[in-house]
Amino acid sequence: QQTYLVDGELREWSGATSEVTSTISSTKVYKPTLLGTIPTLTEKEALEALEAANKAYDRGQGLWPTTKVEDRINCMEKFTAQMKTKRAEIVKFLMWEIGKSLTDSEKEFDRTVDYIYDSIEEYKQMDRDSAKFEKHSGVHAHIRRGPLGVVLCLAPYNYPLNETFALLIPALLMGNTVVFKPAKQGVLLLSPLLEAFQNSFPAGVVNIIYGRGRTLATPIMKTGKVDVLALIGNSKSANAIQENHPNKNRLRLVFGLEAKNPAIVLPDADLDLAINECLAGATSFNGQRCTALKILYVHENVVEEFNKRFSEKVDALKFGNPWEENVKLTPLPEPGKPAYIQELIDDAKEKGAKIINKKGGLTSENYIFPAVLYPVNKKMRVFHEEQFGPVTPIVSFKNINEPLDDMAASNYGQQVSVFGSDVAILAPLIDRLVNLVCRVNLNSSCQRGPDVYPFTGRKDSAVATLSVHDALRSFSIRTFVASKDT
Ligand code: G3H
Repeated sequence: QQTYLVDGELREWSGATSEVTSTISSTKVYKPTLLGTIPTLTEKEALEALEAANKAYDRGQGLWPTTKVEDRINCMEKFTAQMKTKRAEIVKFLMWEIGKSLTDSEKEFDRTVDYIYDSIEEYKQMDRDSAKFEKHSGVHAHIRRGPLGVVLCLAPYNYPLNETFALLIPALLMGNTVVFKPAKQGVLLLSPLLEAFQNSFPAGVVNIIYGRGRTLATPIMKTGKVDVLALIGNSKSANAIQENHPNKNRLRLVFGLEAKNPAIVLPDADLDLAINECLAGATSFNGQRCTALKILYVHENVVEEFNKRFSEKVDALKFGNPWEENVKLTPLPEPGKPAYIQELIDDAKEKGAKIINKKGGLTSENYIFPAVLYPVNKKMRVFHEEQFGPVTPIVSFKNINEPLDDMAASNYGQQVSVFGSDVAILAPLIDRLVNLVCRVNLNSSCQRGPDVYPFTGRKDSAVATLSVHDALRSFSIRTFVASKDT
């Protein structure tokens, strides 16, 4: 694929390209697979994309922000109908590009389609609500929501379809125009959609560019013509990119960032349930989810039992290629990830932890088997860093204030899972936990969905809120027409 989408044109690119390779090999012998190439665009094309988005927005007077609600919905429905015909192709890319299992790739596709339809319904409801009038102190108000402007949207590799669309769809529905740069992995899967974008939306409304993040995003931001920076990724890149904007007061941020979600297993927890939920929470998609359980606090009375049974279950997980039946662990898409996980393991071992599962840490070129580390303490890197991969640190605690203090001291505050059965203990604990994170999962692992619930975080975990309901609001501003009693 050597085309990119700017100003309604699928432009041919004859300049430099970069290879997209997969760490998946269909043979027994590991050999990275070349999947395709993408254009390595330059500052010039990035600025052309921005110019196209600015023209379509035209300071709120352009074609898209002035398009009627029903017409924007028609464009979105037309796009989604075409997208649905590409399911098999996109699912295949998800498996090969990022190593997501067939079941999870299909789920990601279907969840994205549902997300679009649910957002459309929510948008219709919002529009119906805006037809109502309010009256306070003799002033009538007709309140509605308006767009914010031009959005620069950057997506992550772990949910290249679903999280991309969790930003793009609400941004577009609300009348904003977008320049979108996909992640390095999970980029080819957009190629089957370029034409659908082109023929469903007016020119300049959606612009899709490829290349190095810094080369493209920096000049775009420096123009000061971006109104919203929307990204799902890490706070280091988010901060570096936003710094380029010359007038930050004019820049809105919609960020989904890192997390270090803990599980707290209380002494009276149903251990079977806790172990199964922690297993799924810590290992699904090899731990490459911002919502993954990244540290487990287990009460000292049950830690021995928990560790034994949890480790056995981890070792029983099937590793294989994404399309294999019952596969739970798959090759890691980032070539440097196994070495990074190994660093965390070595550091923890030097400082007194052990790998307590038999297969933990076994490596191949493109993989490292999930390592369960115990006992973990604050001196270890794995205690603090968002590993985003297959390693699970376990900390034993005596007093509930220990995990609570750690959570209060953490840079992150997305979610927590708590396992226990005594309501008299759980109720006051939950009251404390909700002041540290944004979602408390009772006897269940952490997750983003169902997508109607607010998805956000405290501290370095998020800026603004996503969800079918909230994202439409995050990408818009309340405006109103006021009139006085006559
Ligand atoms: O990587 C962060 C995702 O938002 C996680 O979503 O909980 O549905 O896997 P999920």
